[in-house]
Amino acid sequence: MSDDTLLDVDLSGSKVPGVAPVRGKGGAPAFFSAWDLHAYYGESYIVQGVSFDIREGEIVALLGRNGAGKTSTMRTIARADNPALMHGEIWLDHKPVHEMKSHEAAQIGIGLVPEDRRIIQGLTVEENLKLARIAPPHGWSIERIYDLFPRLGERRTQEGTTLSGGEQQMLAIGRTLARDIKLLLLDEPYEGLAPVIVQEIERTLEEIKELGITTIIVEQNAIAALHLADRAIILDMGHIVFDGVSQEVLDNADLRQQYLAI
Ligand SMILES: Nc1ncnc2c1ncn2[C@@H]1O[C@H](COP(=O)(O)OP(=O)(O)OP(=O)(O)O)[C@@H](O)[C@H]1O
Ligand SMILES: [Mg+2]
Repeated sequence: MSDDTLLDVDLSGSKVPGVAPVRGKGGAPAFFSAWDLHAYYGESYIVQGVSFDIREGEIVALLGRNGAGKTSTMRTIARADNPALMHGEIWLDHKPVHEMKSHEAAQIGIGLVPEDRRIIQGLTVEENLKLARIAPPHGWSIERIYDLFPRLGERRTQEGTTLSGGEQQMLAIGRTLARDIKLLLLDEPYEGLAPVIVQEIERTLEEIKELGITTIIVEQNAIAALHLADRAIILDMGHIVFDGVSQEVLDNADLRQQYLAI
């Protein structure tokens, strides 16, 4: 086999266990690759063979009905203790995330913004951001985070847990950007927020998108997520039932009705 032939072989992580992803769908190298993930909460088998690749800078909307396994998939990727990953591989920028604990995954650049935001009680906005920068590798400076979210700058001395829901979401995103992240995982960033605040956060996510940060966004507000994302993956009962461009989901009412009930 000549070298040229070798280069044409699809070596994406989803096909070749034990090998770092070399080439993803569409010819560009896969930056992130999940291969055949199976994860459990105790005896409950929840993530049932999930595989997908993401190219650098791509934004993927991870969609599906309540209980489809979206949060569980994100937690599996971030290497949370629960659900426990029992089989499969996760690669980010050629590093084997499946071999890591959650703090190691965070250190190599997986930034999960959890659904419940987890603002630290008793700390001001600025202290919450400073805490995120306590250990290297550092990401954005605090001033840059205030440029993205001016409301946070205005409230820098206010206790984080006394902020409105939308401001707490901004702080949760800002805190993640304060670390040097390679993959941003957003779990329901618009949940429980007034439409005007959703619009404000949408604008900042568009800015983050322009910067080319590779992102997975989980959202009940599927239409908003589809407008932001390049690609959509739909989960149903712990399986992927669709992986394609976002516009295809926007155009396909049957698909939306069947798996997203919208
Ligand atoms: N800590 C847990 N222990 C046991 N089962 C759990 C746990 N958390 C979630 N599950 C179950 O795993 C399945 C997938 O849940 P998950 O939270 O991943 O769904 P989701 O797609 O994020 O749903 P939602 O849209 O409601 O956030 C559900 O059946 C849920 O009941
Ligand atoms: Mg969820």
